[in-house]
Amino acid sequence: MTMDHLIVHEAHNVAMRDTPQHFYDKQPSRGSYIKNKDQYTEWYNQSINNPEQFFGNMAREYLHWDKDFTKTLTGSLEKGDVAWFLNGELNACYNCVDRHAFANPDKIALIYEADDEKDNYKITFNELLTRICKVAGVLQKWGVKKGDTVGIYLPMTPEAIIAMLAVARLGAIHSVIFAGFSAGSLKDRIVDAGCKVVITCDEGKRGGKTVNIKRIVDEGLNGVQSVSHILVFQRTGNPQVPMTAGRDYYWDAECAKQRSYIPCVPINAEDPLFLLYTSGSTGSPKGVVHTAGGYLLGAALTTRFVFDLHPEDVFFTAGDVGWITGHTYALYGPLSLGTSSIIFESTPAYPDYGRYWRIIERYQATHFYVAPTAMRLIKKVGEAEISKYNISSLRVLGSVGEPIAPDLWEWYNEKIGNENCVICDTMWQTESGSHLIAPLAGAFPTKPGSATLPFFGINAAIIDPVNGQELTGNDVEGVLAIKSPWPSMARSVWNDHQRYMETYLKPYPGFYFTGDNAGRDHDGYYWIRGRADDVVNVSGHRLSTSEIEVALSEHPAVSECAAVGIADDLTGQAIIAFLALKNEEMEHPANPEDLQLLRRELIMKVRGSIGPFASPKSVIIVEDLPRTRSGKIMRRVLRKISSNEAEELGDLSTLANPEIVPKLLSAVDAQFLSLKK
Ligand code: WTA
Repeated sequence: MTMDHLIVHEAHNVAMRDTPQHFYDKQPSRGSYIKNKDQYTEWYNQSINNPEQFFGNMAREYLHWDKDFTKTLTGSLEKGDVAWFLNGELNACYNCVDRHAFANPDKIALIYEADDEKDNYKITFNELLTRICKVAGVLQKWGVKKGDTVGIYLPMTPEAIIAMLAVARLGAIHSVIFAGFSAGSLKDRIVDAGCKVVITCDEGKRGGKTVNIKRIVDEGLNGVQSVSHILVFQRTGNPQVPMTAGRDYYWDAECAKQRSYIPCVPINAEDPLFLLYTSGSTGSPKGVVHTAGGYLLGAALTTRFVFDLHPEDVFFTAGDVGWITGHTYALYGPLSLGTSSIIFESTPAYPDYGRYWRIIERYQATHFYVAPTAMRLIKKVGEAEISKYNISSLRVLGSVGEPIAPDLWEWYNEKIGNENCVICDTMWQTESGSHLIAPLAGAFPTKPGSATLPFFGINAAIIDPVNGQELTGNDVEGVLAIKSPWPSMARSVWNDHQRYMETYLKPYPGFYFTGDNAGRDHDGYYWIRGRADDVVNVSGHRLSTSEIEVALSEHPAVSECAAVGIADDLTGQAIIAFLALKNEEMEHPANPEDLQLLRRELIMKVRGSIGPFASPKSVIIVEDLPRTRSGKIMRRVLRKISSNEAEELGDLSTLANPEIVPKLLSAVDAQFLSLKK
């Protein structure tokens, strides 16, 4: 990616936006690990000025090493050869399970909140260890060894966590694919990662509905020769779900044959722990590579210091393990610290909007971590349920995945936190592995809408995207970049290091580029404005508009299309797709119903190609798309028109076909609304 691909943030050279600037200064009731802003500053300065000493000490304090490392850090962002904890060896499963099972065998590790509340149960560290060993034994029998990749396509159940840790136990690499992805998306990811084994289930349960998980796997893996074995957990036990002899095996039957303990395989700190596919501006999804040592340290440290997590706390991450939040803050963070983690399979609306609060009350959860999109939904339709429950066990409320608007922040603080909790708006990414910018609960004041200050070791910078220069000092707007390596940063893109360099390290040499627009205010606090590239964030799910365009253009009626993200009250951003048809007469059919049918078909096409969560909110059929003289589609024009901001279209002098603008406006008027009805 070059700078030309970036949408220069329109506000980058205007003064800070008019955002609430009042501080909330609250300590969690028990006092926090980091006492105050001065202590934060002292630790932060050490972490930046002497990262080797700072993170070397932290790594030895918080992780168990089978072999100590001999050098803490080498390499540079410029060269893309960063490595941490060289020659050190460890095992992530040992760190998350074994050491706690030895010290505290009966402590609860996982609390399973099943789709149907009647199916809930808890797992101690000791039981977790046994269950992991059995699955690891099965995988080992099938030939899975250090460095192999294993695909996991499971809903948010304890088995997903067990599968991930079983893979890690063998020193193999897990690649979890969100169980909402379509068969085609699953296949692309399994093939790219070269998985030998896939772990899945027969059917999922979500919101009382049954999801045909295995059928999607069968469809996706049809003809994929590299997958020799599939382990099938029987979530519902439906005997109708087909099994392929010689390839598919039931989880329980296979585990029953295995020993209750098998040893961990220590791996090098720089060996991959997992891959997680994520969307970028262009091309197919990237398999982001995270390493065993640095990633695990980032997960442990941020969980401890950002959330001020204490051993007796109960951590509730409402995100799915199919995304990075589930990896870092449902599994690796809380478990590496030996803390209980709630695994939530259902939705906030099932069977009613009291679900989250019942969970918190039932398990006395101290931490609740969720995307703003869920809070927007509850604020809109489920607020009355909150006061029916006693959720006073909560101390820290986290927000993740998208900007939280100041008024929603205030609502979260008041209605859920009862003005008694610290709100941690945490800014980070799949690639960062753990929090980049986030408050340390109780250590320093927060401001509604700001992710506040960088975590230890995060040398944050704001860069002027026009000239690529760092903007020093406060009161600046630009793009967010990071100036030095941090332990949990992604090391590569699977099988494509060049792409890693081009996406993250080459846009601004010497910096890691986050892809986000951001400002730093007069107090040095950071405000994340949203993506600077063609990534959209729908209900906290990260999507690339180009992937959606590829899916739509596969439909035989479509000649050309462009998808854009616009602000949405409920989902944060929503996707609007603009299409020109091959058969132009179709644009004005005798029967308008035909057009409506086509629009629905196109939406189904995206659902089928990527997954239901990627559905465009609206599909707008137009004569032509706005383009520059060199033929590039001007997405800015489409974004403004569909955001009701046509009066702010800006400079249209580069538009080759200005006559299209009024036509686009009337198409949006007619079609956007007709779909909304
Ligand atoms: C956005 C999710 C504002 C941002 C953990 C980032 C946020 C992208 C925040 C990564 C936040 C995440 N405030 N924006 N607190 N957290 N984002 O990889 O645009 O799914 O680049 O990781 O989400 O999305 P991803």
